[in-house]
Amino acid sequence: MALSGSERVHKPLGLLAELTHRCPLGCPYCSNPLALDAREDELDTATWARVFREAAQLGVLQVHLSGGEPGARRDLVDVTAGAHAAGLYTNLITSAVGITEKRLGALAEAGLDHVQISIQDSDAQSADHIAGYAGAFARKRVHRANIDRIAEMVDLALALGASRIEIAHVQYYGWALRNRAALMPSREQVQRAAAAVDKLRSRHHGRIVIDAVVPDYYARYPKPCVGGWGRRSLNVTPAGKVLPCHAAESITGLEFWNVRDRSLADIWANSPAFNAFRGTAWMKEPCASCPRRELDFGGCRCQAFALTGDAAATDPVCHLAPDHTQVEELAALRTDTAYDYRRMRAGQEASIMA
Ligand code: SF4
Ligand code: FES
Repeated sequence: MALSGSERVHKPLGLLAELTHRCPLGCPYCSNPLALDAREDELDTATWARVFREAAQLGVLQVHLSGGEPGARRDLVDVTAGAHAAGLYTNLITSAVGITEKRLGALAEAGLDHVQISIQDSDAQSADHIAGYAGAFARKRVHRANIDRIAEMVDLALALGASRIEIAHVQYYGWALRNRAALMPSREQVQRAAAAVDKLRSRHHGRIVIDAVVPDYYARYPKPCVGGWGRRSLNVTPAGKVLPCHAAESITGLEFWNVRDRSLADIWANSPAFNAFRGTAWMKEPCASCPRRELDFGGCRCQAFALTGDAAATDPVCHLAPDHTQVEELAALRTDTAYDYRRMRAGQEASIMA
């Protein structure tokens, strides 16, 4: 039987390479898993180069060099050169801590095409508080939005010469899920932020592109997470596990294969984790008969699992989902409790910038 458009195995276009989980920041909204990979388990330079070559052969066009903080890897320049040599477009996602001007020059020479710097806040004190790292802002190493200071953050991005800014709302996986009540904005804040973005778009039209979406818990429909499970992208963890999305390990019972044991092509086509939610055959109602099922793919599998305990359920963000009221209740659950900062296991902190 011929497979339908969404069930056939597509070619991946993007690879998220999590080079390390080490990071000098401790952002409470980090989507890394609670159990972070240790330095001694990280893939070496040569294995990353092999992974990049296999990715290019598989059809991947772009690699995102990420973490943790990728700058924590001493061999970042060599890793970048490996990706460039494989013919991939290279994007470095960094807080910029540890990326000196000299190092940036070496990265550019190694073939780095694009840099994405994460911003926590336009306010230095707040940025340090969010990142759990004194000096984060002063060194222009800031990350993510403070929802009531969007205008100031756009000004900061303009002053830094950015051509594009993404207002990324927290996604509640990993450490962010643990801190959900402390991070959740109110509906009024979300509405004010949307109005601020509209104004900023017209004020800075032609100077900077502003990408922004309604945060998950206040949306009517879910996002087509990762462009559909096992459809367009893959994610390699610091220790070499290949995941359909960065939070896939939060779903219990999935079997992930490792690039140390198998080729990327084999993993993409045959790994049980990638095939678990490919296409639409796994869907339950209301997704199974919904006209949007090949647009949003039923939303996010990790969110469905986190909120309902069933990774094949409709993402409760969808207003048609049987569990949607849970999302409304959770959005209303806001507290001013202290952040639970992301931390490596005891003994790993010392090797963060080694
Ligand atoms: Fe998307 Fe499923 Fe909601 Fe339809 S019911 S809009 S496919 S999440
Ligand atoms: Fe895993 Fe959305 S983050 S499917």
